[in-house]
Amino acid sequence: MSAGVLQRAAQVIPLGIWGHNRAPALLDEGAYPFFVDHAAGARFRDVDGNEFIDYMCGFGAMINGFANPEVDGALTSQLARGDCFNQPTLRSVELAEHLCQIVRGVSWCFFAKNGSDATTGALLVARAHTGRRKVVCVRGAYHASHFWASFGNPGAGRPAEDSHDLLLVRWNCPDDVERVFRQHGDELAAVVVTPYHHPIPGAAEAPTEAFIDAIQSCAARRRTPLILDDVRAGFRLNLHGSHEHYGWRPDLICYSKALANTHALSAVAGAEPFRAAASEAFISGTFWNAGAAQAAALANLRLLERDDGISRMADLGTQLCDGLLRLGRRTGVHLRISGPASMPTVQLADDPHYLKMRRFCQELAERGVFTHPMHNWFLSAAHRQADIEETLDVAQAALEAVKAG
Ligand SMILES: Cc1ncc(COP(=O)(O)O)c(C=O)c1O
Repeated sequence: MSAGVLQRAAQVIPLGIWGHNRAPALLDEGAYPFFVDHAAGARFRDVDGNEFIDYMCGFGAMINGFANPEVDGALTSQLARGDCFNQPTLRSVELAEHLCQIVRGVSWCFFAKNGSDATTGALLVARAHTGRRKVVCVRGAYHASHFWASFGNPGAGRPAEDSHDLLLVRWNCPDDVERVFRQHGDELAAVVVTPYHHPIPGAAEAPTEAFIDAIQSCAARRRTPLILDDVRAGFRLNLHGSHEHYGWRPDLICYSKALANTHALSAVAGAEPFRAAASEAFISGTFWNAGAAQAAALANLRLLERDDGISRMADLGTQLCDGLLRLGRRTGVHLRISGPASMPTVQLADDPHYLKMRRFCQELAERGVFTHPMHNWFLSAAHRQADIEETLDVAQAALEAVKAG
């Protein structure tokens, strides 16, 4: 049925599935579900009725469980009053107040819909503030599907000129940072970094103190704003922002994904000196101030705090990673796991082209565990101990299948 739906979809949607959701389903066709029917907690069912424990969580959008009654209750009660109007609703004020209270170092924010809107909006504010245009980014990072960030998403329809204003440095390379500031200091509108390096594909890497110091001291010396792209990790590592977890002191911070627990919302939050530029610059979207997702975000953040969801994700992630490493030793398939336990990047040794990893994830999917061979996985506060145990049982068989070739 899934395959039939894909054929039907391909008549009216290029390849049948558009965007990042093509992988892993169209990468290894037949191993993964193509279309979801419904989901609850940390599990979803595809249109064929197969159930999966989900370790991709809507590519990070789910943090408190699919169809969470508290979050979706807040969403539907706002929906009953209407969603998108000429003016924002009170929800925008309440959520902005809440974000300014919990996120360290910011005093204002504005909202959009996707992570790409947020990083583009933050860059606009940085350019308005400095009157400069060039941007320092890290090689291998992904910040937006928008054209300015094509370096992270090259391909058809994206000429090299799109990334003309970008200067790339290597992650954890203070020398690169110092060189780029020496050569271009007066032209730099912003440095954009993720809190830790999470390239796709590739191992995750925490920032070294020397790298953070180099970026922060160069940026301060040249009055170049530091933009933290916390779109992927935001609210998974620290309720007060991932900068608190690693020791960054950003000027502008971008959130999306987990902010409203599966509902479309993003935010740019900023330090006081950038309020004037944010007030002058214009960027917008028809739905950016719609109230329902903002109501969902408020409920989601309160729930995360009340139930200490962040510690729960870290604990469950640690159990999953420790268990996988143990199984790897037992089966003789050596695993490498990097990144925070609640967002683990799982790789297999001697697997430069990800062929073994693709096999491993296919075997997992066949046994009801949904992962991705090249992207980091996500834990949520809705995963249960039983999910981890079931996953590890399944992983043993999947690793044995990899070992058998
Ligand atoms: C670090 C980071 N920044 C920005 C984005 C873009 O967000 P969106 O896909 O919501 O536009 C992503 C998406 O994966 C991301 O991981």
